[in-house]
Amino acid sequence: MPAPRILILGTTGGLGRALSRHFAAEYEITPWGRADLDFEQPETLSAKLASQEFDVLINAAGMTSPDVCEVQPERAFLANAVAPQILGECCHARGARMIHFSTDYVFSGESRGPWFESDETVPVNIYGRTKLAGEKAVLKASPGALVARVSWLFGPDKPSHPDNIIQQALQTDDLSAVADKTSVPTSNADICGWIEQLIIRHSTTRGVLHLCNSGVASWHSWAEAALTLAARLGVPVKTTTVQPIELASLTQLKAQRPLMTVMSNARLQSVLGGEIRNWYDALEEYLVQKYQPQ
Ligand SMILES: NC(=O)c1ccc[n+]([C@@H]2O[C@H](COP(=O)([O-])OP(=O)(O)OC[C@H]3O[C@@H](n4cnc5c(N)ncnc54)[C@H](OP(=O)(O)O)[C@@H]3O)[C@@H](O)[C@H]2O)c1
Repeated sequence: MPAPRILILGTTGGLGRALSRHFAAEYEITPWGRADLDFEQPETLSAKLASQEFDVLINAAGMTSPDVCEVQPERAFLANAVAPQILGECCHARGARMIHFSTDYVFSGESRGPWFESDETVPVNIYGRTKLAGEKAVLKASPGALVARVSWLFGPDKPSHPDNIIQQALQTDDLSAVADKTSVPTSNADICGWIEQLIIRHSTTRGVLHLCNSGVASWHSWAEAALTLAARLGVPVKTTTVQPIELASLTQLKAQRPLMTVMSNARLQSVLGGEIRNWYDALEEYLVQKYQPQ
Protein backbone atom coordinates (compact mmCIF):
# COMPACT_ATOMS: atom_id res chain seq x y z
CA MET A 1 0.00 0.00 0.00
CA PRO A 2 1.41 3.47 -0.85
CA ALA A 3 2.32 5.72 2.09
CA PRO A 4 -0.59 7.99 3.02
CA ARG A 5 -0.43 11.66 2.11
CA ILE A 6 -0.90 13.61 5.32
CA LEU A 7 -2.35 17.10 5.73
CA ILE A 8 -1.35 18.57 9.11
CA LEU A 9 -3.16 21.62 10.51
CA GLY A 10 -1.88 23.89 13.29
CA THR A 11 1.75 23.66 12.22
CA THR A 12 2.77 26.89 13.95
CA GLY A 13 1.76 25.35 17.30
CA GLY A 14 3.74 23.11 19.64
CA LEU A 15 2.20 19.77 18.68
CA GLY A 16 1.64 20.66 15.01
CA ARG A 17 5.31 21.56 14.58
CA ALA A 18 6.40 18.31 16.21
CA LEU A 19 4.06 16.31 13.97
CA SER A 20 5.30 18.08 10.83
CA ARG A 21 8.94 17.38 11.64
CA HIS A 22 8.21 13.76 12.55
CA PHE A 23 6.20 12.92 9.45
CA ALA A 24 8.23 15.00 6.97
CA ALA A 25 11.11 12.55 7.35
CA GLU A 26 9.26 9.67 5.68
CA TYR A 27 5.89 10.79 4.37
CA GLU A 28 4.44 13.22 1.88
CA ILE A 29 3.02 15.91 4.13
CA THR A 30 1.31 19.24 3.65
CA PRO A 31 1.82 21.48 6.71
CA TRP A 32 -0.81 24.19 7.00
CA GLY A 33 -1.02 27.07 9.44
CA ARG A 34 -3.72 29.68 10.01
CA ALA A 35 -2.62 31.57 6.89
CA ASP A 36 -3.51 28.50 4.80
CA LEU A 37 -6.77 27.65 6.54
CA ASP A 38 -8.41 30.08 8.96
CA PHE A 39 -10.90 28.33 11.25
CA GLU A 40 -12.63 31.64 11.90
CA GLN A 41 -13.68 31.80 8.26
CA PRO A 42 -15.76 28.64 8.15
CA GLU A 43 -17.26 29.45 4.75
CA THR A 44 -13.80 29.10 3.14
CA LEU A 45 -12.81 25.73 4.60
CA SER A 46 -14.51 23.24 2.25
CA ALA A 47 -13.20 24.83 -0.95
CA LYS A 48 -9.65 25.07 0.39
CA LEU A 49 -9.66 21.45 1.49
CA ALA A 50 -11.11 20.39 -1.87
CA SER A 51 -8.07 21.94 -3.57
CA GLN A 52 -5.66 19.69 -1.66
CA GLU A 53 -4.88 15.97 -2.08
CA PHE A 54 -4.59 14.00 1.18
CA ASP A 55 -5.48 10.63 2.69
CA VAL A 56 -5.20 11.58 6.36
CA LEU A 57 -5.95 14.94 7.98
CA ILE A 58 -4.40 15.60 11.41
CA ASN A 59 -5.97 18.58 13.15
CA ALA A 60 -3.67 20.02 15.82
CA ALA A 61 -5.13 23.54 15.39
CA GLY A 62 -7.53 25.21 17.77
CA MET A 63 -7.93 27.97 20.32
CA THR A 64 -5.98 26.41 23.17
CA SER A 65 -5.77 29.00 25.94
CA PRO A 66 -8.57 28.48 28.48
CA ASP A 67 -8.37 32.13 29.56
CA VAL A 68 -8.61 33.49 25.99
CA CYS A 69 -11.52 31.12 25.23
CA GLU A 70 -13.32 32.31 28.36
CA VAL A 71 -13.40 35.93 27.18
CA GLN A 72 -13.86 35.16 23.46
CA PRO A 73 -16.40 32.32 23.44
CA GLU A 74 -17.69 32.91 19.90
CA ARG A 75 -14.20 32.71 18.41
CA ALA A 76 -13.46 29.65 20.55
CA PHE A 77 -16.61 27.93 19.29
CA LEU A 78 -15.66 28.61 15.66
CA ALA A 79 -12.10 27.34 16.10
CA ASN A 80 -12.78 24.38 18.39
CA ALA A 81 -16.18 23.13 17.26
CA VAL A 82 -17.54 24.65 14.01
CA ALA A 83 -14.35 24.28 11.94
CA PRO A 84 -13.62 20.70 13.14
CA GLN A 85 -17.16 19.72 12.14
CA ILE A 86 -16.59 21.06 8.60
CA LEU A 87 -13.22 19.26 8.45
CA GLY A 88 -14.98 16.07 9.53
CA GLU A 89 -17.63 16.46 6.83
CA CYS A 90 -14.97 17.04 4.15
CA CYS A 91 -12.94 14.03 5.28
CA HIS A 92 -15.99 11.80 5.33
CA ALA A 93 -17.12 12.94 1.87
CA ARG A 94 -13.74 12.14 0.28
CA GLY A 95 -12.98 8.98 2.27
CA ALA A 96 -10.04 10.49 4.17
CA ARG A 97 -9.29 9.66 7.79
CA MET A 98 -9.43 12.50 10.31
CA ILE A 99 -7.37 12.57 13.50
CA HIS A 100 -8.53 15.38 15.75
CA PHE A 101 -6.86 16.47 19.00
CA SER A 102 -8.87 17.17 22.11
CA THR A 103 -8.19 17.64 25.79
CA ASP A 104 -8.41 16.28 29.34
CA TYR A 105 -10.35 19.49 30.09
CA VAL A 106 -13.56 17.83 28.84
CA PHE A 107 -13.74 16.27 32.32
CA SER A 108 -15.16 17.89 35.44
CA GLY A 109 -12.02 17.27 37.50
CA GLU A 110 -14.05 15.65 40.26
CA SER A 111 -12.83 12.09 40.47
CA ARG A 112 -10.43 10.00 42.54
CA GLY A 113 -9.42 7.58 39.81
CA PRO A 114 -8.24 8.15 36.26
CA TRP A 115 -10.74 9.07 33.58
CA PHE A 116 -11.62 6.54 30.88
CA GLU A 117 -12.81 7.27 27.35
CA SER A 118 -16.31 6.09 28.27
CA ASP A 119 -16.62 8.36 31.34
CA GLU A 120 -19.08 11.20 31.50
CA THR A 121 -17.75 14.53 30.21
CA VAL A 122 -18.67 17.68 32.15
CA PRO A 123 -16.34 20.54 31.18
CA VAL A 124 -16.07 23.42 33.63
CA ASN A 125 -14.97 26.17 31.23
CA ILE A 126 -15.57 27.51 27.71
CA TYR A 127 -12.40 25.89 26.35
CA GLY A 128 -13.54 22.46 27.55
CA ARG A 129 -17.12 23.01 26.35
CA THR A 130 -16.02 24.06 22.85
CA LYS A 131 -13.51 21.19 22.63
CA LEU A 132 -16.20 18.71 23.71
CA ALA A 133 -18.58 20.13 21.10
CA GLY A 134 -15.77 19.67 18.55
CA GLU A 135 -15.24 16.02 19.55
CA LYS A 136 -18.92 15.24 19.16
CA ALA A 137 -19.26 17.14 15.87
CA VAL A 138 -16.21 15.40 14.35
CA LEU A 139 -17.38 11.91 15.31
CA LYS A 140 -20.90 12.62 14.04
CA ALA A 141 -19.65 14.03 10.72
CA SER A 142 -16.98 11.38 10.26
CA PRO A 143 -17.70 8.18 12.17
CA GLY A 144 -14.31 6.72 11.19
CA ALA A 145 -12.46 9.65 12.78
CA LEU A 146 -10.14 9.37 15.74
CA VAL A 147 -10.43 11.92 18.56
CA ALA A 148 -7.16 11.93 20.48
CA ARG A 149 -7.42 13.50 23.94
CA VAL A 150 -4.05 14.73 25.20
CA SER A 151 -2.89 16.51 28.38
CA TRP A 152 -0.08 18.79 29.59
CA LEU A 153 2.09 18.72 26.49
CA PHE A 154 5.82 19.35 26.46
CA GLY A 155 8.53 19.29 23.83
CA PRO A 156 11.09 21.36 21.94
CA ASP A 157 8.70 23.33 19.75
CA LYS A 158 7.01 25.56 22.30
CA PRO A 159 7.99 26.37 25.91
CA SER A 160 5.70 24.74 28.45
CA HIS A 161 5.67 24.30 32.22
CA PRO A 162 9.08 22.54 32.65
CA ASP A 163 10.83 25.04 30.35
CA ASN A 164 9.22 27.97 32.13
CA ILE A 165 10.08 26.79 35.63
CA ILE A 166 13.71 26.06 34.65
CA GLN A 167 13.91 29.53 33.10
CA GLN A 168 12.58 31.08 36.32
CA ALA A 169 14.98 29.02 38.46
CA LEU A 170 17.94 30.49 36.59
CA GLN A 171 16.93 33.86 38.08
CA THR A 172 15.46 33.10 41.52
CA ASP A 173 15.07 30.43 44.19
CA ASP A 174 11.64 31.74 45.13
CA LEU A 175 9.36 29.47 43.11
CA SER A 176 5.83 28.21 43.57
CA ALA A 177 3.52 25.87 41.66
CA VAL A 178 0.01 24.50 42.13
CA ALA A 179 0.01 21.19 44.00
CA ASP A 180 -3.71 20.35 44.15
CA LYS A 181 -4.27 20.01 40.39
CA THR A 182 -3.30 16.75 38.71
CA SER A 183 -3.03 15.33 35.21
CA VAL A 184 -0.45 13.53 33.04
CA PRO A 185 2.42 15.45 31.44
CA THR A 186 2.81 14.08 27.92
CA SER A 187 5.65 14.21 25.43
CA ASN A 188 4.88 15.61 21.99
CA ALA A 189 7.55 13.28 20.61
CA ASP A 190 5.77 10.26 22.08
CA ILE A 191 2.46 11.47 20.63
CA CYS A 192 4.09 11.64 17.17
CA GLY A 193 5.19 8.00 17.47
CA TRP A 194 1.75 6.85 18.64
CA ILE A 195 0.00 8.77 15.86
CA GLU A 196 2.28 7.20 13.26
CA GLN A 197 1.40 3.73 14.55
CA LEU A 198 -2.28 4.63 14.59
CA ILE A 199 -2.08 5.76 10.96
CA ILE A 200 0.06 2.96 9.57
CA ARG A 201 -0.75 -0.11 11.67
CA HIS A 202 -4.12 0.66 13.23
CA SER A 203 -5.92 2.45 10.44
CA THR A 204 -9.38 1.36 11.60
CA THR A 205 -9.07 2.58 15.20
CA ARG A 206 -11.74 5.20 15.70
CA GLY A 207 -13.71 7.05 18.35
CA VAL A 208 -12.18 8.65 21.43
CA LEU A 209 -8.70 7.59 22.53
CA HIS A 210 -6.65 8.97 25.44
CA LEU A 211 -3.10 9.71 24.23
CA CYS A 212 -1.00 10.36 27.32
CA ASN A 213 2.10 9.04 29.02
CA SER A 214 1.72 6.91 32.15
CA GLY A 215 1.80 8.26 35.71
CA VAL A 216 0.37 11.25 37.54
CA ALA A 217 1.71 14.72 38.32
CA SER A 218 0.71 18.06 39.72
CA TRP A 219 2.12 21.32 38.36
CA HIS A 220 4.22 21.25 41.56
CA SER A 221 5.66 17.72 41.21
CA TRP A 222 6.20 18.27 37.46
CA ALA A 223 8.13 21.47 38.26
CA GLU A 224 10.35 19.82 40.89
CA ALA A 225 11.04 16.87 38.57
CA ALA A 226 12.11 19.26 35.80
CA LEU A 227 14.38 21.22 38.15
CA THR A 228 15.99 18.10 39.62
CA LEU A 229 16.69 16.71 36.15
CA ALA A 230 18.01 20.07 34.96
CA ALA A 231 20.34 20.37 37.96
CA ARG A 232 21.64 16.86 37.29
CA LEU A 233 22.34 17.90 33.69
CA GLY A 234 24.42 20.85 34.87
CA VAL A 235 21.88 23.61 34.30
CA PRO A 236 22.72 26.31 36.91
CA VAL A 237 19.27 26.44 38.54
CA LYS A 238 19.25 28.25 41.89
CA THR A 239 16.97 25.66 43.51
CA THR A 240 15.19 22.38 42.92
CA THR A 241 12.57 23.13 45.56
CA VAL A 242 9.23 24.66 44.69
CA GLN A 243 6.71 25.97 47.17
CA PRO A 244 3.34 24.17 46.84
CA ILE A 245 0.32 26.44 46.46
CA GLU A 246 -3.40 25.88 45.87
CA LEU A 247 -5.11 26.45 42.55
CA ALA A 248 -7.60 28.72 44.34
CA SER A 249 -4.78 31.17 45.08
CA LEU A 250 -4.35 31.94 41.36
CA THR A 251 -7.05 34.58 41.34
CA GLN A 252 -5.84 36.12 38.07
CA LEU A 253 -7.04 33.13 36.01
CA LYS A 254 -10.12 33.97 33.96
CA ALA A 255 -11.25 30.40 33.35
CA GLN A 256 -11.98 27.86 36.04
CA ARG A 257 -9.67 24.80 35.85
CA PRO A 258 -10.69 21.20 36.57
CA LEU A 259 -8.67 19.75 39.47
CA MET A 260 -8.19 16.07 38.62
CA THR A 261 -7.96 15.21 34.93
CA VAL A 262 -5.58 12.25 34.97
CA MET A 263 -6.58 10.10 31.99
CA SER A 264 -6.17 6.34 31.71
CA ASN A 265 -4.13 5.25 28.69
CA ALA A 266 -5.31 1.62 28.98
CA ARG A 267 -7.08 1.74 25.60
CA LEU A 268 -3.96 3.16 23.94
CA GLN A 269 -1.83 0.40 25.49
CA SER A 270 -4.28 -2.21 24.30
CA VAL A 271 -4.47 -0.80 20.75
CA LEU A 272 -0.69 -0.43 20.37
CA GLY A 273 0.05 -3.63 22.25
CA GLY A 274 2.80 -2.37 24.53
CA GLU A 275 3.67 -0.41 27.63
CA ILE A 276 3.43 3.36 27.48
CA ARG A 277 6.36 4.93 29.29
CA ASN A 278 6.02 7.17 32.34
CA TRP A 279 5.99 10.94 31.82
CA TYR A 280 9.13 11.24 33.97
CA ASP A 281 11.19 9.11 31.57
CA ALA A 282 9.89 11.11 28.60
CA LEU A 283 10.70 14.38 30.41
CA GLU A 284 14.22 13.16 31.19
CA GLU A 285 14.79 12.30 27.53
CA TYR A 286 13.50 15.72 26.46
CA LEU A 287 15.74 17.61 28.91
CA VAL A 288 18.80 15.52 28.03
CA GLN A 289 18.24 16.37 24.34
CA LYS A 290 17.77 20.03 25.24
CA TYR A 291 20.72 20.49 27.58
CA GLN A 292 23.15 17.74 26.50
CA PRO A 293 22.56 17.34 22.77
CA GLN A 294 24.83 14.72 21.12
N1 LIG B 1 -0.75 22.18 25.12
C1 LIG B 1 -1.38 21.40 25.98
O1 LIG B 1 -0.92 21.17 27.10
C2 LIG B 1 -2.68 20.73 25.59
C3 LIG B 1 -3.41 20.06 26.58
C4 LIG B 1 -4.59 19.42 26.22
C5 LIG B 1 -5.02 19.42 24.90
N2 LIG B 1 -4.30 20.09 23.95
C6 LIG B 1 -4.80 20.06 22.56
O2 LIG B 1 -3.75 19.66 21.68
C7 LIG B 1 -3.86 20.35 20.44
C8 LIG B 1 -2.54 21.04 20.10
O3 LIG B 1 -2.23 21.93 21.16
P1 LIG B 1 -0.92 22.86 21.12
O4 LIG B 1 -0.48 23.06 22.52
O5 LIG B 1 0.03 22.36 20.10
O6 LIG B 1 -1.58 24.22 20.62
P2 LIG B 1 -0.88 25.60 20.25
O7 LIG B 1 0.60 25.51 20.44
O8 LIG B 1 -1.63 26.67 20.96
O9 LIG B 1 -1.14 25.72 18.68
C9 LIG B 1 -2.43 25.92 18.21
C10 LIG B 1 -2.38 25.98 16.71
O10 LIG B 1 -3.71 26.27 16.26
C11 LIG B 1 -3.64 27.38 15.38
N3 LIG B 1 -4.88 28.16 15.39
C12 LIG B 1 -5.41 28.83 16.43
N4 LIG B 1 -6.53 29.45 16.04
C13 LIG B 1 -6.69 29.16 14.72
C14 LIG B 1 -7.63 29.52 13.74
N5 LIG B 1 -8.66 30.33 14.02
N6 LIG B 1 -7.49 29.04 12.48
C15 LIG B 1 -6.45 28.24 12.16
N7 LIG B 1 -5.51 27.87 13.04
C16 LIG B 1 -5.63 28.34 14.30
C17 LIG B 1 -2.47 28.21 15.86
O11 LIG B 1 -2.07 29.11 14.87
P3 LIG B 1 -1.38 30.52 15.25
O12 LIG B 1 0.06 30.17 15.55
O13 LIG B 1 -1.55 31.34 14.03
O14 LIG B 1 -2.11 31.06 16.45
C18 LIG B 1 -1.47 27.09 16.14
O15 LIG B 1 -0.88 26.63 14.95
C19 LIG B 1 -5.06 21.28 20.57
O16 LIG B 1 -6.20 20.60 20.06
C20 LIG B 1 -5.23 21.44 22.08
O17 LIG B 1 -6.57 21.72 22.42
C21 LIG B 1 -3.14 20.75 24.25
